[in-house]
Amino acid sequence: MPIVPVCAPAQESRYDIHIGHGLLSACAPLLAPYAGRKAAVVADSNTAPLYADTLMAQLRMAGAQPALITLPAGETTKCPEQLAVLYDAFLDLRLTRKDVVIALGGGVIGDITGYAAATYMRGVRFVQVPTTLLAQVDSSVGGKVAVNHPRGKNLLGAFYQPELVLIDCATLATLDTRQIGAGLGEVVKYGCIADEALFTKLEALSPREALMPVLDEVIARCCAIKARYVAEDPHDHGVRMQLNYGHTLAHALENGMGYGTLLHGEAVSIGMVSAARWGETLGITPSGTAERIRALLTAYQLMTDVPECLTAESLAASMALDKKADGAKVNTVILTKIGACTGVPLTPDQLRAML
Ligand code: GLY
Repeated sequence: MPIVPVCAPAQESRYDIHIGHGLLSACAPLLAPYAGRKAAVVADSNTAPLYADTLMAQLRMAGAQPALITLPAGETTKCPEQLAVLYDAFLDLRLTRKDVVIALGGGVIGDITGYAAATYMRGVRFVQVPTTLLAQVDSSVGGKVAVNHPRGKNLLGAFYQPELVLIDCATLATLDTRQIGAGLGEVVKYGCIADEALFTKLEALSPREALMPVLDEVIARCCAIKARYVAEDPHDHGVRMQLNYGHTLAHALENGMGYGTLLHGEAVSIGMVSAARWGETLGITPSGTAERIRALLTAYQLMTDVPECLTAESLAASMALDKKADGAKVNTVILTKIGACTGVPLTPDQLRAML
């Protein structure tokens, strides 16, 4: 079973990501540090019926006292009102700082539960059990936790590392095909920005059915790449921005289509192909790279074209508001080849012209 260590030095944090098929029903030994403690398991209305009993049984076996809190499924749950629901539930359970909060679900549950854990009593112990591919390869690793504000996504957040991440690839069997595709978009991203060998392996393992039998290895590779970025730049002031490859356009697409229309990983898929084309236009990305990325994403059944209903003007205006924007320029991640990248400041006019 792969184990990936994560070290976030600025936060004096070190933890392991355990990855395995069926791990959820065999994780009691890893939960031993919570013997004698309360464990608030936060799930949503999809994951609670599927996995909560299994996880709570393992917690009891480990000597912990679990309690389940179930939130509604969906992005709208990531809001201050549901955060207050969590604080109330923690208070009702008389949770203390020695107890643990466990997120059992996808990115929404991981993000809101992590933010609640970071802020309740100035921080309680936190464990991530991600159940979507996107959460397993990205949001559960690296400590970014947040809720949305009515004026924007993830505007209220913190960096708060979990002390353990448990990834059971068997949970992916219950995901629908779009959710798997969205996760694969982020998997391809790691190959693009940091690992040519991973990219080549993914090309050999397409269509996606060929990838499924080795998904635990691939997830481990993605987590190891992310762990490297987190170790170097835990607070996202520099090199960690490379993880945002394809995201400048993706955020504008998500915004332009209305949040929830495109899944995040689907928007990233379109964003990565566009960013590779921009790189080719700028003479930074070798020609043919965009086509190679497009072919792989298409083989994984992901969209790669900007929807026709969105204009270059509206997308460029939206990209100018990106969180990575610096004054008049948008810091855009551009590939120098498959497996390596750099940040390039681009004006909204340059972006509009290349769309
Ligand atoms: N999802 C990008 C990051 O964690 O930095």
